[in-house]
Amino acid sequence: MAKTFIICKPDAVERGYVGEILGRFEQKGLKLVAGELRQLDAETLAEHYAEHVGKGFYDSLVAFMSRSPAFVAVLEGPEDTYAIVRTMMGATNPAEAAPGTIRGDFGTEMTENLVHGSDSNESAAREIGIFFPELAK
Ligand code: RTP
Ligand code: MG
Repeated sequence: MAKTFIICKPDAVERGYVGEILGRFEQKGLKLVAGELRQLDAETLAEHYAEHVGKGFYDSLVAFMSRSPAFVAVLEGPEDTYAIVRTMMGATNPAEAAPGTIRGDFGTEMTENLVHGSDSNESAAREIGIFFPELAK
């Protein structure tokens, strides 16, 4: 079994897509093991998106991710569950994401792409440690 970390981003909460997004992962066979609506702050986001600090889009990314509450969650499934989640999310740019993916079905804009998912098992462990330290071992 493997855990991964997801965020239903503020646009998804604002537009009422949290149930749809979680439902897709549940229907796929992944199990929700933690989840909470949370207002994310700049400090937490700098830790979470450490790889992007200083990039041209970073300030707009933080403004977007902190403008209203996000739903942070941990999913559990088979080995490399992070990869299943990433496939279901679709490409970073919703305009290019395939139909049938979350981003492909519900988004049109680069920043407002509805969902985050850890990009490796190492990232999943690191991100779960930030948002749900009680689950990190
Ligand atoms: P995420 O980390 O949120 O799951 O997204 P990702 O792996 O598909 O994409 P990543 O490269 O990690 O970028 C993180 C988030 O930053 C915003 N972004 N904007 N304007 C731009 O060029 C740009 N590039 C990235 C997106 O919200 C992306 O999901
Ligand atoms: Mg990423």
